[in-house]
Amino acid sequence: MKILAIDTSCDDTSIALIKAEKTHFKILSNIISSQIKIHKKWGGVVPTLAKREHQKNLPLVFKKTLNKAKSASRRTKIDLVAVTIGPGLEPCLWMGVNFAKDLAKKLNLKIIPINHIEAHILANWLRPIGENFKNIFPAICLVVSGGHTQLILIREVGKYKILGETRDDAAGECFDKAARILGLGYPGGPIISKLAKKINNGSRTSIILPRPMMYQKNYDFSFSGLKTAVLYDFRAQSPKIRTSKKYIQEMCSETQQAIIDVLIKKTIRAAREFRAKAVILGGGVAANEELRKQFREIIKKNFPNTKYLIPRPKFCTDNAAMIGVTAYFHQKEATKNWQEIKVNANLKI
Ligand code: KG4
Ligand code: ZN
Repeated sequence: MKILAIDTSCDDTSIALIKAEKTHFKILSNIISSQIKIHKKWGGVVPTLAKREHQKNLPLVFKKTLNKAKSASRRTKIDLVAVTIGPGLEPCLWMGVNFAKDLAKKLNLKIIPINHIEAHILANWLRPIGENFKNIFPAICLVVSGGHTQLILIREVGKYKILGETRDDAAGECFDKAARILGLGYPGGPIISKLAKKINNGSRTSIILPRPMMYQKNYDFSFSGLKTAVLYDFRAQSPKIRTSKKYIQEMCSETQQAIIDVLIKKTIRAAREFRAKAVILGGGVAANEELRKQFREIIKKNFPNTKYLIPRPKFCTDNAAMIGVTAYFHQKEATKNWQEIKVNANLKI
């Protein structure tokens, strides 16, 4: 079965064609057109600009996706269309949904509406042939992206319970806002991660930031206070110090470590409480090298029998291949009542 999948939830226009077999997904093509250059000067995503770009890019990305797929496989006939309907930026989501509807009508195909958060989780199913998952449920999944930070208990694919989520900013948003304060550009995560590496292997810096809600006995998060702490520390320094390499690298290292500490502490506590057979990560922040490494070490040390699943970095950030995988598990929801497919910017898992 070949699924054409579309994601326009935020600032990436992505279309993929995937071939789904019983236990394996082959990506025939997965094209992502990034709008980073456009949003960079504003320090974050501007929804109206993003919408305009999606509209402009969708036909081009679609063409590219088909061309690339044709070079990967002789048979590229589409069987189903999948599209993200939420959560995300409403005007952006509509661009993808309208494009999917037009295409499905033209080709007389069914559409499967997809939840973007579930797709970040199921990005883990994009694995090399032979690697399959047995005995991974119940699993604890941490979805950390620019828009979301959620701890989710998974009983099986499709059965989710949110244990906790951020009360204000998402973890990725905190990376982005801290980078903005430090004058480093957008998106903040990759830049902060790169500069933090210059500080010797996690050795402590002279800056100490708070770890919000880390010891609270719930599974919620809060990152806006951390961002404010970065701002206050930055403002308290002389212009000479706060623009120095040393200060910026130390601040990047400490910001990253504060976020990692909170995420690990709560995820591990949930894994223990629910006797998780696997800890699963997903979302853009899960591309963070230090986060991946520290999670791996702590799971190996404390739960040697617990599996640790994490997508390849390119499948952590937004992509349409993960939308295609999710569609495969939701085939029953495919419909030709195209007019029923609607956006829900606040869709819950
Ligand atoms: O999943 P994603 O592409 O989009 C949303 O669904 O939000 O996540 C984007 C977020 C941004 O906030 C970006 O700064 C963050 O993921 N991010 C990272 C890294 N790469 C992307 N954060 C930390 N370290 C990274 N290497
Ligand atoms: Zn995302």
